[in-house]
Amino acid sequence: MKAVVYEGPRSINVKEVPDPKIEKPNDAIVRLTTSAICGSDLHMYDGHTPAKGGMILGHEPMGVVEEVGEGVNIIKEGDRVVMPFNVACGTCLNCLKGYSSACLTMNPASAGAAYGYVEMGPYPGCQAEQMRVPQADWACLQLPGKPGDDKEDDYVLLADIFPTAYHATELANVSAGKTVGIFGAGPVGLLSAYCSILRGASEVYVVDKSEKRLELAKSIGAIPINFTEGDPVKQIMELRQETAVVNESLHPEEKLMGVECGIDAVGYQAYDRQDPAQFNPNQVLSDLARLINPAGHLGVIGVYVKEDPKARNELEKNGILAIPFGMMWMKGISIGTGQAPAKNYQAYLRDMITNGKAKPSFIISDRVPISEVPQAYKEFDKRDDVTKAVIKL
Ligand SMILES: NC(=O)c1ccc[n+]([C@@H]2O[C@H](COP(=O)([O-])OP(=O)(O)OC[C@H]3O[C@@H](n4cnc5c(N)ncnc54)[C@H](O)[C@@H]3O)[C@@H](O)[C@H]2O)c1
Ligand SMILES: [Zn+2]
Ligand SMILES: [Zn+2]
Repeated sequence: MKAVVYEGPRSINVKEVPDPKIEKPNDAIVRLTTSAICGSDLHMYDGHTPAKGGMILGHEPMGVVEEVGEGVNIIKEGDRVVMPFNVACGTCLNCLKGYSSACLTMNPASAGAAYGYVEMGPYPGCQAEQMRVPQADWACLQLPGKPGDDKEDDYVLLADIFPTAYHATELANVSAGKTVGIFGAGPVGLLSAYCSILRGASEVYVVDKSEKRLELAKSIGAIPINFTEGDPVKQIMELRQETAVVNESLHPEEKLMGVECGIDAVGYQAYDRQDPAQFNPNQVLSDLARLINPAGHLGVIGVYVKEDPKARNELEKNGILAIPFGMMWMKGISIGTGQAPAKNYQAYLRDMITNGKAKPSFIISDRVPISEVPQAYKEFDKRDDVTKAVIKL
């Protein structure tokens, strides 16, 4: 079969590799119909991880079950399915508690596993024609309809970024009426805004520098903030002054000029605002520390790593950041981090798509055949016009 193989920084190729096989009784083989490129793949692509060459990339899989092992009971050949990016057993203590993102059994090196990702276990990715799915009954979420129908591009987003964005709103404690500030208008930030609006937030601000991405944020009713036009925290606070909640008649709520809920949908590859040609892993967390109101919540859904070989200094190379933790502590901000346990939300979000209550595919800009994936990485890496690329297999 054909697969997208990581060779090294900014070097990936489409190669002919052996077809996957059933290795354990609980495995399934899935023939992929659509898969996607993620901002998380760019961390490896850009050389900001210790990834070695030779790995099949991709962790956003959707397709049709081709074959199942003898231990698989629920899923059967011919089922249309989407899998979470997390590889998990479904039965260890963390999985039972709802933290399949920290499964204790599937990654020999640490807690938590995923397809096609550095340090996330030995699982080949899904930017390929077929893949092996371990623990298939746990992993495969059945989908209605037929491959290639008008919901194909919505359902594929259930593999990662739609539930991940929903999880970001959980971490940030978003609910009806709340004010939300989101840094990053990439696929995850845009869907975090979309989920905030689904959950009834009253004001949703989205910060980025890409006009194309900010335009999409505006199209769903969020308020775009371009950080090249000035300090985004000040911009949001000024706009908030114009709303009833913080005007003078509501003393002492002028202390709530920021937002209740903050979401970092950028991660450690944040552009430095003074010099956007450079990454500054402290930038977004520092801005959010200033923006979030006392007693607010912060969801850090953007990735931070413990090893970045291309970072600016020794501390940052080891994931040690200079952030205003004292300010966050004094404000009493609750912080949530980590990989999303996508499985927790997948079935509910699937049903919202099926019933026409959600259409997350508004973020997809490019649909490419596998042969064009290397070019799609190159374009997506500019973090501008290509807002999300899906691969048609
Ligand atoms: N926690 C999880 O389970 C999980 C799952 C999927 C993705 N992620 C992570 O979420 C993050 C976003 O993913 P994506 O696919 O949207 O990626 P992306 O790279 O396409 O988007 C990031 C966006 O942030 C913007 N940005 C950069 N610096 C900024 C700054 N200083 N202020 C405001 N905006 C800034 C960029 O212009 C870009 O539009 C990545 O770190 C990705 O790895 C985490
Ligand atoms: Zn992803
Ligand atoms: Zn587990």
